[in-house]
Amino acid sequence: MRATRVAVNGYGVIGKRVADAVALQDDMELVGVADVAVDYRLSLAAARNLSLFGSTADATEAMTQAGLAPAGTLHDLLGRADIVVDATPKRVGATNKARYDALGVKAIFQGGEPHDLTGLSFVAQANYTQALGHTAARVVSCNTTGLVRMLGALDSRGLLESARAVLLRRATDPWESHTSGMINTLMPEPKVPSHQGPDACTVLPDLDLVTVAAAGPFNLAHVHFVFVTAPRPTSRDEVLAALGAAPRIALVEAAAGVEAPNAVIEIARDLGRPRADVWEVAVWADTIAVDDREVVLTYMVHNESIVVPENIDAVRALSGTEPDPATSIAATDANLGMRATLP
Ligand SMILES: NC(=O)c1ccc[n+]([C@@H]2O[C@H](COP(=O)([O-])OP(=O)(O)OC[C@H]3O[C@@H](n4cnc5c(N)ncnc54)[C@H](O)[C@@H]3O)[C@@H](O)[C@H]2O)c1
Repeated sequence: MRATRVAVNGYGVIGKRVADAVALQDDMELVGVADVAVDYRLSLAAARNLSLFGSTADATEAMTQAGLAPAGTLHDLLGRADIVVDATPKRVGATNKARYDALGVKAIFQGGEPHDLTGLSFVAQANYTQALGHTAARVVSCNTTGLVRMLGALDSRGLLESARAVLLRRATDPWESHTSGMINTLMPEPKVPSHQGPDACTVLPDLDLVTVAAAGPFNLAHVHFVFVTAPRPTSRDEVLAALGAAPRIALVEAAAGVEAPNAVIEIARDLGRPRADVWEVAVWADTIAVDDREVVLTYMVHNESIVVPENIDAVRALSGTEPDPATSIAATDANLGMRATLP
């Protein structure tokens, strides 16, 4: 079978990671990356011999002037692709959809776009089959991906009646933390529920979930505290078994010194992972507390990378090259080197 030809538009935090992950899959070919920027990130892409394209005529010209030798425009790139992963900034993706549609190129958007853009919000373990053959899908945001993976794992074992969650969000991403961020404060989201709860319901419509969120002065990851009510009495062992049976959830142990997000990132560094990425939800096993029907969970979401495997599975689902979710997920996870525990 011919490899699926994948283009990436927007070579930022998400786009560059998805591009590298595509290149690791046996059944996919990265045909090029496009952007409007001409900075060190694009110079590095050029130095790595990625095919670079300008997303606009001006960007193509600027890339040429900067010596980046673009291979053409976004239009040229789309002409070589079966599917495009749009990882442009929030709300920019929506403005690109008509271009993809006009050329008959399937498209995957990110969590910054609204659900209505594609009508299909995607998390592989929850609704891969629903996406088979679709022309477009939206991979939900990092926080929503974490919530759906965790609550979906409990739900699939009959352990979820309702959930209430507190989300502590990172203030900014490391690469742009000289331009924004916060110190010595915390900013609660004014709206309850925060948008992540309703967003998770775009993937799992029957969820009884309320989220509240705040951003804080750190930039490594998000941390969620989730209070689950099970429909019947359960046990810590049963919860551990449910999490262990689900993909993309890795246990960490505070008792082994993994006490905070920085320690989880340090493990990723020591494992030699690209960009110290943690594609799994990292759950503190020590903090899993169960009392009759009440379950408490604390876990970390590495916002920069958690959606990368979901984008890869979305490519297979939309292109229809692999009908079985478990097979796609297993291939993606093996190619990335994902684990059930960290370390
Ligand atoms: N950063 C995160 O933690 C995170 C996590 C999950 C999902 N997302 C979502 O992923 C999407 C991308 O976010 P990001 O953090 O990677 O953003 P980013 O700012 O790091 O990267 C976006 C890239 O797109 C480029 N760009 C801007 N306008 C463009 C255009 N018109 N055409 C082509 N390229 C253009 C920028 O130069 C930049 O390189 C957003 O929808 C965001 O909500 C981000």
